[in-house]
Amino acid sequence: MIVSTDVGLAAESLAAGKLVAFATETVYGLGADASNPVSVGRIFSVKGRPLGHPLIVHVSSAATALDWCAPTEHQAEMFAVLAESFWPGPLTIILPRSDLAAEQTVGGLDTIGLRVPAHPMALELLDRFGGGVAAPSANKFGKVSPTSACHVVDDLGSEIDLVLDGGDCQVGLESTIISLVNDRPLLLRAGGVTRQHLSRCLNQPLLSPSDSTSASVRAPGMLRSHYAPNAEVEIVNAENLDARLEQASQQTATKVAVVAPFEVAHSPAWVMPSDSTGYAQRLYGVLREADNENVHQILVIPPAEGDLVEAVGDRLGKAAAASSDGET
Ligand code: TXA
Ligand code: MG
Repeated sequence: MIVSTDVGLAAESLAAGKLVAFATETVYGLGADASNPVSVGRIFSVKGRPLGHPLIVHVSSAATALDWCAPTEHQAEMFAVLAESFWPGPLTIILPRSDLAAEQTVGGLDTIGLRVPAHPMALELLDRFGGGVAAPSANKFGKVSPTSACHVVDDLGSEIDLVLDGGDCQVGLESTIISLVNDRPLLLRAGGVTRQHLSRCLNQPLLSPSDSTSASVRAPGMLRSHYAPNAEVEIVNAENLDARLEQASQQTATKVAVVAPFEVAHSPAWVMPSDSTGYAQRLYGVLREADNENVHQILVIPPAEGDLVEAVGDRLGKAAAASSDGET
């Protein structure tokens, strides 16, 4: 496996059917030619991802995205507004699909998730490659997404051909996912583009998967337990932290760490930026550091304010759910 900044080499590797991990502004993706069923099949085996979990297809422009989907007029209008406002950027848009993608890429669905990422290296890669790049986050299924080339090497180093090193990811959490498949837009995953921005842009509130009218939408990424480190994650209110630490100090065999947007009198602790944007950027790296220090349990205080409160809360909730499901 090679770690490189050679975009030309990465584009050639994709064209030759290889797997290339690459930086985006959200998290690192594990890329393959979206039209090549054999390459896409390797993504699923390397990640240990169950077949049937659709992949996002990354393209270099909104115009190219239109080749991959088959929107109705109404969907095309909403798509145009969103693409104009948020692409390149951390937004994935789900639409009915065309037949360009391999069946495996979309997990057998008749819809497709499309995104134009904002990282300059990713954009250059997509531009040079020319086609669509199917890319889930470059981690083992269910685990924490990688936000640096090092994280990718740690997780998948022996199993992939190339990592295109674009430094640390700026957003640090996976893209927002919006589905335009039904009459009303539906927010499937919170992320760097907020619900408020989207609904202002579309002039209407967004449905959530829990709303009864959206119950029939299949959204495998909504698994309750996902995005989990090895350590058990517990979300704690700032006011309850002292009491919770007092309890934890009784369990001497358990190494407890704190992740909080303020200083705490406990070790080990990670002090996070108080703003949710900075917090999000650091979060996955910190969860990995805690695992590397063999922490058993992480008490996490989420950020209180800022644009990414919903997205950070969503990922922490899923990490905590994985712990309570007994899944590590
Ligand atoms: O920021 C991101 O979105 C990163 C970078 C690499 O772009 N990618 C990413 O991919 O997070 P992944 O596979 O880890 O998560 C993609 C999510 C999955 O939960 C999948 O179920 C959902 O997108 N998805 C993809 N296509 C879909 C579709 N047609 N309908 C519903 N959900 C879809
Ligand atoms: Mg993922």
